[in-house]
Amino acid sequence: MKILVCGANGQVGSELLGHARDFPIELVATSQRELDISDAEAIQRHVDEQRPDLLINAAAYTAVDKAEQDRERCFRVNRDASGLLADACARAGIPLFHLSTDYVFGGALDRAYRETDPPDPINTYGRSKWEGEQRVRERLEQHLILRIAWVFGPHGNNFVKTIARLAREHDELNIVADQLGSPTPASAIATTLLELASRLAGDGDLAWGTYHYAGAPDCSWHEFARRIVERLEGSAVKLHPIDTATYPTPAARAANTRLDCSRIKETFGIERPDWQSALLEPGLLPASET
Ligand SMILES: NC(=O)c1ccc[n+]([C@@H]2O[C@H](COP(=O)([O-])OP(=O)(O)OC[C@H]3O[C@@H](n4cnc5c(N)ncnc54)[C@H](OP(=O)(O)O)[C@@H]3O)[C@@H](O)[C@H]2O)c1
Repeated sequence: MKILVCGANGQVGSELLGHARDFPIELVATSQRELDISDAEAIQRHVDEQRPDLLINAAAYTAVDKAEQDRERCFRVNRDASGLLADACARAGIPLFHLSTDYVFGGALDRAYRETDPPDPINTYGRSKWEGEQRVRERLEQHLILRIAWVFGPHGNNFVKTIARLAREHDELNIVADQLGSPTPASAIATTLLELASRLAGDGDLAWGTYHYAGAPDCSWHEFARRIVERLEGSAVKLHPIDTATYPTPAARAANTRLDCSRIKETFGIERPDWQSALLEPGLLPASET
């Protein structure tokens, strides 16, 4: 099976590259410089040249706060380009694995969100990702949309790295405690995508559709930070729980975007990854601190 990956320099993209050798898969990785997914001709050229069996879209505009000022670019990448990728896959007769987000949900529910719950995004990034999902659904039957959340890994920027840095620079940190979600290791997302690609290669088909895949257990940002700090040797930083209202951000954040991951378990037998043990993965925190 030959897979063309877009966004290979990102958190998930890098992990796809790192784990591909563990699967019977040939992976062709493209960065934004090599393949800009908002360029329909460039997509077509890559598909024609590479003739992949599957396309994985790990590219996205992911700067949630910046998106409020950069709306046009955010929608161009997350909505329009997702549609272009789906169109190219439909023309080539190949499937698309597409990544989406817990931020398609607005947080009004007091339980974890299921795939059947109607999205109601409350910020630009969430709206652009939801509309991107819709483009994929409308244009390509053979799609797998994986909604993931609170991603962290050794490549790129994320909450784990930010907390590790801030813990070195400060004695006390205020961390939001009234937003609940599901931290997810990028490595687990990558191996799940590669596992599903391998099954597709073996069976020639897959139960297409939308799936939630996120780490366990659910927690608040404050709890997430507490676990990170526990891993930092010699850190005495004090973490204070605060409310969202006392930490205003340009993009609104939902109080609850926990993802119910029963569907992927029932359909494929894939379990939620344990994010706490993933904090020990090499390269995530400085070696002296793990
Ligand atoms: N990060 C999270 O917490 C989170 C949570 C839920 C869902 N997700 C979703 O998961 C997926 C992967 O996220 P991630 O954390 O791996 O993101 P990331 O680290 O920000 O990587 C995204 C990659 O997309 C590339 N990119 C941006 N615009 C592009 C374009 N026009 N053409 C081609 N590539 C482009 C970026 O290139 P440059 O390196 O050149 O900027 C970057 O390498 C995305 O769909 C995201 O929406 C992420």
